[in-house]
Amino acid sequence: MSSTVIIGTQWGDEGKGRVVDVYAANAAMVVRYQGGDNAGHTVKIGTQSYALHLIPSGIVRQKPSILGNGMVINPKSLLKEIADLEGRGLTVRPHLYISEDAHLIMPYHLALDGASERASGNGKIGTTLKGIGPAYVDKFSRLHGLRLGDLRNAEYFRARLRPIVAEKNALLTQLYQSEVQFDADAIFDEYLGYYAEIGGMICDTAEMVWQAVKRGDEIVFEGANATMLDIDHGTYPYVTCSTPTAGGAAVGVGVGPTKIDRVIGVVKAYTSRVGEGPFPTELKNEIGDHIRELGHEYGTTTGRPRRCGWLDICVLRKAARANGLDYLAVTHLDILDGFAEIPLCVAYEIDGRRVEIFPSALWETERATPIYEMMPGWLTPTNGCRSFTELPPNAQRYLNRVAELTDVPICMITVGNERQQNIVMEHPVSA
Ligand code: IMO
Ligand code: MG
Repeated sequence: MSSTVIIGTQWGDEGKGRVVDVYAANAAMVVRYQGGDNAGHTVKIGTQSYALHLIPSGIVRQKPSILGNGMVINPKSLLKEIADLEGRGLTVRPHLYISEDAHLIMPYHLALDGASERASGNGKIGTTLKGIGPAYVDKFSRLHGLRLGDLRNAEYFRARLRPIVAEKNALLTQLYQSEVQFDADAIFDEYLGYYAEIGGMICDTAEMVWQAVKRGDEIVFEGANATMLDIDHGTYPYVTCSTPTAGGAAVGVGVGPTKIDRVIGVVKAYTSRVGEGPFPTELKNEIGDHIRELGHEYGTTTGRPRRCGWLDICVLRKAARANGLDYLAVTHLDILDGFAEIPLCVAYEIDGRRVEIFPSALWETERATPIYEMMPGWLTPTNGCRSFTELPPNAQRYLNRVAELTDVPICMITVGNERQQNIVMEHPVSA
């Protein structure tokens, strides 16, 4: 038996969808455990490019796809995603299972996400405006959270909803001077309509996963967002509201940590970030612009241009520690094909000190100057390589150095957007 958690090691958009797609081939199910439609995972097959936001990437392989209890789910977005995928020939509904304990994203969560960001001016987080933060805040406030399973009891749902909506309306007008107001009965009708569509998919997903664990099935847990956006381990306060790190899989699915066998960290061969917050190796110059164009670094979810920079080992050391990484899957290696020299950030200098792991304090990260080791480029296309030894020697050197500095072996490399442009290592490279 084998269950694998696949997580992002940086600030998101590492190519988790691609990696999940490979490991989903032999899996009995793919399970999302946190986040919501702030995620944007892409799987490209031939001319078709599937953008997944809420639905696990395993749907592309028509696997049972579970939305776990740790998620926050906007049913309107979910129905749109189902319709998009079905419109392109995938069977979706019969493969979807939604936790009754996952929380609902409500219309007022979207309004509050926007109002809070606008009110913060330059101090904003740069969220995806999907209502993720406000939905998790309500979950933890306990009195304001509504779960998918609550829709089963219409009268209970209505009774819970009324005082919540009254309070949100007061927040919007009195705190944010917003003119947006919500009507509890209209939301009730809207959400009952969604329930009519998705009610049959809502179930005890923890039990499903547990049975799969007992059978010894192969399970893939698909992390969304990333380590550096983790509410505890990320660049707080410029983070998302959930636990993308590997431990989140146990909590967000309802199986204990002893049932997780390995953790794969997905790392882009360089770094990108969307939204605000520290990013020590960011290139605010034409090299950064060049990487953005080469890598098509524009958000899958929001279309925003991503900030780009060199690979940062201090980030990866933090990810190795926070996730207990067994392996790295290095993506987008081909984007570095045209660089004669590739700087690799091996440490920071902060106030005269050498620091090797991403610091926790925001003010320290803002003062961090990267210390680069210059790696020779390979100036050769890698997109036709299908084994590690076929890679140009300097590309092998770059990867070996990453494995050595992080002390994590590499199990997979992607060298292009197509599904087959992968190198999956039978014997992972460990420097
Ligand atoms: P995937 O799964 C990149 C970022 C947002 C913002 C911060 C908080 O595609 O890798 P939120 O809407 O979650 O409250 O925004 O987190 N963010 C992501 N950035 N990829 C993602 O997901 C992200 N999910 C959230 O840009 O800075
Ligand atoms: Mg993405």
